[in-house]
Amino acid sequence: MRRTRIVGGRVIDPARGVDQVLDVVVEGGRVVGMAQETGAAAGEVVIDARGLVVAPGFVDLHCHLREPGYEHKETIATGTAAALAGGFTTVCAMPNTLPTIDTASDVAYVQDVARRLGLARVQVIGTVTKGQQGQELSEMADMAQAGAVAFSDDGRQVATSRLMRHALEYSLLTGRPIVDHCEDADLAAGTVMNEGPVSARLGLPGVPAEAEEIAVARDLALARLTGGRLHVAHVSTRAAARLIERAKEEGIRVSAEVTPHHLLLTDDWLAGAHATPPYDARCRVNPPLRSAEDCEALQWALGAGVIDCIATDHAPHARVDKECELGAAAPGISGLETAFGLLMRLVHTGRIPLATLIARLTCDPARVFGLDAGSLRPGAAADLVLLDPLAEWTVDAARFRSKGKNTPLDGERLHGRVVLTMVNGTVAHQLEAQVHG
Ligand code: DOR
Repeated sequence: MRRTRIVGGRVIDPARGVDQVLDVVVEGGRVVGMAQETGAAAGEVVIDARGLVVAPGFVDLHCHLREPGYEHKETIATGTAAALAGGFTTVCAMPNTLPTIDTASDVAYVQDVARRLGLARVQVIGTVTKGQQGQELSEMADMAQAGAVAFSDDGRQVATSRLMRHALEYSLLTGRPIVDHCEDADLAAGTVMNEGPVSARLGLPGVPAEAEEIAVARDLALARLTGGRLHVAHVSTRAAARLIERAKEEGIRVSAEVTPHHLLLTDDWLAGAHATPPYDARCRVNPPLRSAEDCEALQWALGAGVIDCIATDHAPHARVDKECELGAAAPGISGLETAFGLLMRLVHTGRIPLATLIARLTCDPARVFGLDAGSLRPGAAADLVLLDPLAEWTVDAARFRSKGKNTPLDGERLHGRVVLTMVNGTVAHQLEAQVHG
């Protein structure tokens, strides 16, 4: 592989506190070093990054690749292609597949398929309970040995306090976090959106923010009891963020993630206040889109580091899963390909500096799961992105690499785009035409 020089970009590598115009030199799949612009040496491949940001490839701790079992919604091939288009060079696949990822050989299967494809890097999350049925713990130690990076019954909360207690005890053994979908199942049953003035106006059954607060409080108490490693998935409420903040102050071993849609979309999307018509199933997601006050609290918590990182919860679904009434629709948003553009609204409105946003997409998630990723330090794998923070474009879900076209952002104007994604020193995605204006 020839030596490549990425010339003249603003290099933002938050892991090392770098934010300056530099050349990045890549050889043999690794970052060799960075230098002030010196001009390319003979034989080097040159990538012109002037006017662009060069950053580590994004790391997504939470996405649904649907394989095995739901290949009509997504495959590892289409999901990882979507990841690359969105700037994600490492994604962690949730285990709510068919069958669920319960054993070391299930883990190895997903790893093998991903490795053979050679697109984005895929890390595997195993189940906490067999079949995610909330009856019996899965073989977490075996799965950890096979390389599983975390455990989750995502889609639902670990069903009982006793199982969650034991799962957290296992996390001490495996060193791997338990990722919990914090939603009180009883309170959430039969609901389709957030409970509040908007659900009252629409006459739709809503789940109160308290369903998340209750679930997070249980898990934090059990993390305190056991000393185990808890990671709270897709935090969506102000109350949950507050509980996490206090728990961290107390020294409880907890980390947390927030999705782009919970940061930036509100429950009045379901009322037709934005780009989608009222009652549009593309706005149905679990946990649901919340109030503007919740969004604001989440943005603050992300900026302050109370919430450690951003994760997409990319949840692709087939057309038939969404083209139906709200109550029958599958929850979830296809998020990998719009994440960066949507998140840039936080930067363009001055809520979060660009370097902080990049940290929350790179070194911070890598730290949370202990992954060797998210930095451009010399010797690191050359997984990186070129970003145009100002590029304007219109979301066209029909052109997604993902099979899941289910996004409320279809047709939305976004400002900020991934121009190029490199994995292991090889260009794995490149924008055909950079659309301006
Ligand atoms: O909206 C969601 N969709 N939330 C989840 O927790 C699961 C996910 C899915 O698997 O579709």
